[in-house]
Amino acid sequence: MTLVLGVETSCDDTAAGVIRRRPDGACEILADVVWRQYDRHAPYGGVVPEIAARSHVERVDQVIVHALEKSGHIPADLDAVAATAGPGLIGGVMVGLTAAKAIALAHDKPLIPVNHLEGHALSARLTEAAPFPYLLLLISGGHTQLIAVAGVGRYRRLGSTIDDAAGEAFDKTAKLLGLGQPGGPRIESAAVGGRASRFRLPAPLARREGCDFSFSGLKTAVRLAAEEIGTPTGQDVADLAAAFQATAAAHLAARTGRAMDMVEADFGADPRLVVAGGVAANCAIKAALKELADRRGWRLIVPPPKYCTDNGAMIAWAGAERLAAGLVPSLAEALAFAPRA
Ligand code: KG4
Ligand code: ZN
Repeated sequence: MTLVLGVETSCDDTAAGVIRRRPDGACEILADVVWRQYDRHAPYGGVVPEIAARSHVERVDQVIVHALEKSGHIPADLDAVAATAGPGLIGGVMVGLTAAKAIALAHDKPLIPVNHLEGHALSARLTEAAPFPYLLLLISGGHTQLIAVAGVGRYRRLGSTIDDAAGEAFDKTAKLLGLGQPGGPRIESAAVGGRASRFRLPAPLARREGCDFSFSGLKTAVRLAAEEIGTPTGQDVADLAAAFQATAAAHLAARTGRAMDMVEADFGADPRLVVAGGVAANCAIKAALKELADRRGWRLIVPPPKYCTDNGAMIAWAGAERLAAGLVPSLAEALAFAPRA
């Protein structure tokens, strides 16, 4: 049994989780505490790095203490402490990593610096048996990538966004439609009563080879359609949100289909597609990917929404996976680990 505390502070969520990795490789989530800073950033229409960093300083210790209490453990019980070491907003990364370093040092535990993207990449294995290899579609606020995952620490990037990330496109489009933040869930709710077919938005990169993504043209197309209306009513906004969401979902599925072509030969008889990152919480996107996976004979694995968005459990789990794979730096190396922006 391996008990790991994970700390995540790379964006606007102050999060800590405690997990146990069983000898058979299964995960038990003992605690998962997330303090979301939405309200503090909402007046500015997006995440303000300075406010995020200050908010993490204010709450990170309480969130960690709460997670440990919920897990029924004290720091002395831990086998390791993991923390997001980048990429992310540097002020926030420094807060969480320094808090984790302090706990590791005080209790003489290994510190495992975790790359935030690796946290998302392995998050499906928190709640399901998702054996390697798999194709990962990582769709978050800062990243949109297709990655062939061969094992812990063995990642091959097949495609990524050439402009905005998927979540960023949801957030910017929500802002221009006056829906506020967080944009992804607001667009998804607004789209429920909308008719996607009312607007013909261009499919991004329709004639481009490979499996890169693009979202900025789609966001501009929504802006132009909204400007043509003048002052969009509630129904106009719903229709625009639905059209944006449907086009984004179709684009994600189309590019993922191309990545499947690239790896299918190496993936055996039971190929798997794993989706992770905050945007994976979106039902329309999940439905488009399910349709793709079913049509191609692939298994689709999507973590529950609370493990798709940023959380401490996925960082703890990535730490435990690294520990099990023998990929842990020494405490001295770990303490010297420089966070990256
Ligand atoms: O993974 P995450 O929590 O943080 C990053 O690492 O970026 O992802 C946050 C992103 C935000 O852009 C948010 O708008 C988006 O995920 N998101 C969604 C939904 N829920 C969160 N996008 C679309 N539909 C959703 N239901
Ligand atoms: Zn994230």
